This record gives sequence, structure tokens and C-alpha cells, in this order.
Amino acid sequence: MTESSETLANLSTEERRFEPPKELAEHANLTEEAYAEAEADRLGFWEKQADRLDWETRWDTVLDWDDPPFAKWFVGGRINAAYNCVDRHVEAGRGDKVAFHWVGEPEDDTRDLTYADLKDEVSRAANALVELGVKTGDRVAIYMPMIPETAIAMLACARIGAPHTVVFGGFSSDALASRLADCDAKVVITSDGGYRRGAPSALKPAVDEAVQKAKDNDDHEVRSVLVVRRTGEDVEWHEGRDVWWHELVAGQSAEHECEFFDSEHPLYVMYTSGTTGKPKGILHTTGGYLVGCSYTHWGIFDLKPETDVYWCTADVGWVTGHSYGVYGPLANGATSVMYEGTPDTPGKGRWWEICETYGVTIFYTAPTAIRTFMKWGGDIAGQHDLSKIRLLGSVGESINPEAYVWYRENIGASRAPIVDTWWQTETGSIMISPLPGVTAGKPGSAMKSIPGIVVDVVTEEGESVPNGSGGFLVVKEPWPSMLRTLWGDDERFKDTYWSRFADHGFYFAGDGAKKDDDGDIWLLGRVDDVMNVSGHRLSTTEIESALVSHPKVAEAAVVGAADETTGQAVCAFVILRESALADGEEAPESLIQELRSHVQKEIGAIAKPRQVMVVPELPKTRSGKIMRRLLKDVAEKREVGDVTTLADSTVMDLIGKGMKSGTGDES
Ligand code: PRX
Repeated sequence: MTESSETLANLSTEERRFEPPKELAEHANLTEEAYAEAEADRLGFWEKQADRLDWETRWDTVLDWDDPPFAKWFVGGRINAAYNCVDRHVEAGRGDKVAFHWVGEPEDDTRDLTYADLKDEVSRAANALVELGVKTGDRVAIYMPMIPETAIAMLACARIGAPHTVVFGGFSSDALASRLADCDAKVVITSDGGYRRGAPSALKPAVDEAVQKAKDNDDHEVRSVLVVRRTGEDVEWHEGRDVWWHELVAGQSAEHECEFFDSEHPLYVMYTSGTTGKPKGILHTTGGYLVGCSYTHWGIFDLKPETDVYWCTADVGWVTGHSYGVYGPLANGATSVMYEGTPDTPGKGRWWEICETYGVTIFYTAPTAIRTFMKWGGDIAGQHDLSKIRLLGSVGESINPEAYVWYRENIGASRAPIVDTWWQTETGSIMISPLPGVTAGKPGSAMKSIPGIVVDVVTEEGESVPNGSGGFLVVKEPWPSMLRTLWGDDERFKDTYWSRFADHGFYFAGDGAKKDDDGDIWLLGRVDDVMNVSGHRLSTTEIESALVSHPKVAEAAVVGAADETTGQAVCAFVILRESALADGEEAPESLIQELRSHVQKEIGAIAKPRQVMVVPELPKTRSGKIMRRLLKDVAEKREVGDVTTLADSTVMDLIGKGMKSGTGDES
């Protein structure tokens, strides 16, 4: 946290404040009173939020916290997430309202889906899953591009009570295989591919490989693979296992009577990186999760469903795409934009062209994207009419003040407030954020916990730190959209999140934070071995394991080094096996590239190291722990810090001298 604290020292001198626009403040969904209301009766406040959903049976107990950290919310309630996201809007006469303006990457490839269309499609897909033998409680994996069928597949699963696990389409077949096995998914929904950077990009071959690997490594059997035809590219076909979506789903009835499930019925499992190699399957259940998403989407984005056009740019393979791309906006009957491709195809103005075409009013993205646009220049956005934009959101990492101000000026016409939203896969929905109609925003601070959520910054001993001090970010009270456990691993769940402040019963988020003189919160990044690359979490150990699985690598250490665009970039230090090189031979560039590609193959492009440095030794403490802090100094080209705890203090000299470094290209 050393250099983060330095950044903070700079940030905390930030004097700028941006008052909410008058017009927004006057009609804001969430007002100042909400804080007091929630504080006076937190559970009553959450009951009120739960009432924005349709329950078949109302709950009899708001919260069961008798066996912490295992929470039950809205106990006794029965609910169906898909019904709440789709059917109820149609039943209320809003069937003709557009749910998604979908935009494919190839130009003029668009499709509008109304809530009525969505209801038919979701019902057909639900019937199709039933025909494939999927039963309530069975897990279904989804490995898809950003096309309407992805949201339809998720909702179809929710409709029949089959928890989905969406695996980001950029992940490799190995990553998919381990997730399939871990959550025992018998059915995979995928597509032949999608469009990226102007060309078809295949997905089905990775599924074929993953299914085989899951069988070979874990004796896991996938029964069916349901394939959407998107690109029309040739795919290998496994008779008896593979089924075309257009053949199976299109022929189904558009009627599907939905069943209502217990509020605590599992809705989905989302895998995320932890400090050890094995990804954690975060389990979210139905009632509380949907309450959290719909409340925050309505309140933090000040959604006016009649007039707003909302766009969250996150891929549905991440939690942001789940909570604010699908469940939150649909539960609130919003009209959203969904875009398949990259921001620079066919030109760097693509996002802004889409905003102009559909009259986007609320826009939610990540700081890494904002910094990329900053690099490209404000004039690109300036060529488009963005005058309808009235609110901007940021998520995934702290937004640096320069990026904040650029975003506000160039995308928000110096008028739209920015909500810097802090949350996690584990929290399910937004926890810390300004309220757009209440808070005078400070560039770089996520401000304070939203009404209903109790967050604090505490010392090692769990004591609340005074204003002006830093510490660990914790959540002090349970909240409806909290993770319920890690799939199949209650012990790891307790250990990871609840053991550090066990005496106090706090949830430990893994982030460091500081309160400024006003008590507003500044996030300082992770305090564990988790990196944040382009707003996505990657574990150092996971990438180290991938490197060590290469036959030429003996040992590896990975650190996240500051990167102008992606926030942090993956930097790897590797010791090669003796057999890898001839005596005195330097590691060739081709080997460096081979190691980078190896990580990409094992985990996915997002994990591909920006740099691989071949070193003769790694700095270790006497107990053998790698001192990543020192490697970070090297990767960030700083003077190397205190080496007194190293077992051999000459190691850092060796690293400096013997380093053969290769730098990244396209990633
Ligand atoms: O370190 C925090 C950072 O992202 C982590 C959560 O990552 P993930 O579960 O992948 O979810 C990302 C999208 C919700 C957090 O522990 N983080 C997220 N939002 C912010 C942030 N750091 C600072 N400011 C934020 N607004």
C-alpha cells in the first residue's frame, strides 16, 4: 500500500466539488432522507426496497442472521427472477417497450427486443432447456458473445430455477473446463462465435476442447451443448451432444408457466479470482440479489424507465454485466443498449455513435475505457451528439481525478454527475457511491456507503479509523445481495471473507481504503495478492501456476505494476529450468513470447503478461515467501525498497543485472 498512499496524499488535496444538477436533484429517486430512513430502521428500509419486486408469496422474516456468516434474506418469500425481469412488465401493459437495443459489431446489424419479444424468447428457451432434461437446481454454463441470446439464456435458466454460470468468452478452454467441472454443469450454451475487431471470433472450438478436458481431468460429463448460430462459420459437430439453438428453441412454444422459488434458491455462480490459484465460485441467490440490483440500479442511476436509455458497457461475463447489464435494468423495466464488439471497430467513435443513435441518457463504464478514450482524444466523442447524457457511472477500480474530469467534460458536457461505484462480485450490487441527486462529487472518491449499507474503514484490530486515516475496508452489517457462500466450499467462504475480523463479525472486502477529512472514502486497491487489470480481478498465484506449468519454467512470481491504461498490468518474473537454455545462452525473445502466449492459452488474453522477465533468482524472505513488493519496484522502475528481510540481500542486484525482459505487444 506504500505507493497507493502516496497517490492518496495527492488525491486528498483535491479541492474540486461538483454539485448535482438542480433539475436532477429536484426529481431524484434517492434523496438525502434515505440515509436517515435506512439508519433508523435498516431492515424496514430493505423491506421497502423488496416491495419494488413481485413476490408470489411475501417473506415472513426479512433477515435470518442466526448462523453467521450464512445469511438468509426475505425468508419464506417465493419469487421468480425472470418473471420479475420480463413477464410483469408485459402484464402491466408495457410489452411494446424496448428492453434491448442490440447492436452487433458489423455495421447495420441491429435488433430491437421489446419486453413482449423477450417474454416469448425466454419462454421458448426455457421450454428448450426442459426438453434437454435440465431440472430445477441443475447448473447450466453459458459461454457466449454479447448477443441477445446470452441474456435470454440467463433468464431462461432463472425461469426454471437452474443456476447459470456465465464464463467470460475471452477465457480459455482450460478456464472453462475447470469451471464446468467445479460447478458440475451438464449443459453448455454457446455460439459458433461472435464478431470482434471486424472479424468473426470463434467460441465453439474452445467449448469442444473444454468438454474434453473436463472429462479427461475431472471425469466430468457434459450432456448437451446448445449452439447459437451467430457468425455462420463452420463448426465441428458432435452428434448426440450438440444441438442448434435455431432448431431446438425456435420450435418451442412461446408459453411457459413459470414456477416460483424460495427466496434463497441459487440464481447463479460467478467465478472470480482469489489469492490462491483456484477460482472462487461466488454464489448469489434469488430474492436478496434481485432486491439489491433493482434498488441500486433505480437509486444510484436515478433511472426513469419511461424516458431513460441506459447503457452499461460491461461484458455479461463479469458481475457488472449480470447486475447492471441484465438483472437490475430488466427488473426495473429499463430500455438498455447492448453492444457486441470493441469500442474501436470500425472506428474509435463507435461507442459515441451508438450513444447518439439511441439517445443514451445514462452511461456506465470502467476507468480503463475512459483512459483509453482520453488517449485517443476528446475530439472523437466531440463529433457526436451526446447531449442526452445526464448521468455517468464508473466501476472496477478507482477513477483517477484526471480521468474523472475528462469523462465529465467530454462525455458529460460538464453537466452530468458521475457516480463512482465501489462493489465486488461478492457484494452483488453497489455498496459505496455518491447519490447523483444529493452528493457533491469529489473526483477520485467513491464517497460513502449508500443508504441501507454499512461500510467502514478499520484498523488491524477492527476499530473504526478517524478521518484522515487509512485501513481496511469492511462491511459491518449483512446486506441482501451478499454472496451466500463459495460454491461447494463453506470453509473457504468463512476463511476468505469473515475470519480476519471474526470477533467483530465484519465482512472483509480485501481492499485498503482511507477516510479523508470529511469522512469520505478513497479506495486504495487490494491488500492481498490480487491484481486489478482493466477493472478485472486476476490472481497472482493463478498466473504463476500457469507459468510454472510450462516445461521450461522452474519458478515464477507475478506482480501487478502500474499501467497508464489498464490500471495495473501483469508483470512476470521467471526462473528457467537449467535444461531450457544452453550454458551462457540468453533467453531468446521467442521464448518470452512463448511464455506470454502460454498464459493466454491457460487463462485467457486478459491474463497475458505485459512483460516477462527472466531472472536468475527471486527475492524471498527467510521463510521462503516471495517479496512481491520488491519485484513491483523493479516492474515499476523504482528504486528498490527495503531489502533487509531478504534471506539473501544480493538477490536484487542479481535481478537487476541478469534480467532479460520482453515486452508485450497487442494485449
Ligand atoms: O478492488 C476493488 C475494485 O474491484 C474489486 C472487485 O472486483 P470484481 O469482483 O471483479 O468486481 C468489479 C466490478 C464490481 C474491488 O475489491 N473496485 C471495484 N469498483 C471500484 C473498485 N476500486 C475502486 N473504486 C471503485 N469504484
